Amino acid sequence: MTEADLYTLYKGVYVPNGVHTPESLKYYEEFTFRPDDVVIVTYPKSGTTWMQEILPLILSGGDPASVETLPNWDRVPWLEETRASSLKLEERPSPRLFTTHFHYNMMPPSFFQVKPKVVYVMRNPKDVFTSSFHYYNITSFLVKPGSQSEFLQKFLTGKVIFGSWFDHVKGWLNAKEELQIMYISYEEMIKQDLNDSVSRIAQFLGKSLEPDVLKKIADKCLFKNMKNNPMSNYSVVPQEFMDQTKSQFLRKGVAGDWRNLLTPEEAQHFDAVFKEKMKDVNYKFNWD
Ligand code: A3P
Repeated sequence: MTEADLYTLYKGVYVPNGVHTPESLKYYEEFTFRPDDVVIVTYPKSGTTWMQEILPLILSGGDPASVETLPNWDRVPWLEETRASSLKLEERPSPRLFTTHFHYNMMPPSFFQVKPKVVYVMRNPKDVFTSSFHYYNITSFLVKPGSQSEFLQKFLTGKVIFGSWFDHVKGWLNAKEELQIMYISYEEMIKQDLNDSVSRIAQFLGKSLEPDVLKKIADKCLFKNMKNNPMSNYSVVPQEFMDQTKSQFLRKGVAGDWRNLLTPEEAQHFDAVFKEKMKDVNYKFNWD
């Protein structure tokens, strides 16, 4: 199966047509935000599921009920996916939590009028590439990655779902002045004490939590614990859609795994493309 079979070109980027129908994209375009909504925004494979665990726990003051009973895609739904329209999101109490993989310039009109809070998670693109390479192999609704060099070429030119990583990150970084937006990296959540990241996110959300609650949340969101949560590890997805016998969704959960995949030449090429594409970006990325 090729891109022509599995993807729709929406506002210039590929989206998988199995989960993003014209109706679901229209639903998002017409969606009405509330000022106290919070939107997790990520390029795929940057730590979306992790945030879908952390944010509900913060808002519930550490009560694990939602992360233990609702799958992540119902708990913090993707607004652009088919399921969103059936979840009665307009009836959910505030503050509501949502997810999107859209670029800044793909957001619907209500987003720009209401300006809900945004938590934007970034990850070293070489690790995003590595995680994607494994993920595209196990999912039946994505085009198989092909050889590593073919997939690298596609990734660097944005011929993958949700388009170019570079454009995604640049677009959302440029929105800094327009929005209430918190930037956080996968690497700082990995390398520093997770307590610290949870505490900063809670502060951004205006939620004051006792140290023991913060600690409980951080512990629940450790890789090893999320891996055992059936509501977050995608084990309820049928094997025909996601074959986790080949590679798990919660695969390694580390920073720097690209070193086990990319050849020195590929890494060098990646860095050169990064340098060129991000040359006008005034932001200190903290993954190297
Ligand atoms: P790897 O494939 O490198 O292991 P997303 O949710 O955006 O699709 O991102 C998935 C990536 O985030 C996977 O990376 C997954 O293992 C990692 N991840 C999810 N939860 C995590 C956690 N609690 N700690 C560390 N990494 C996590």
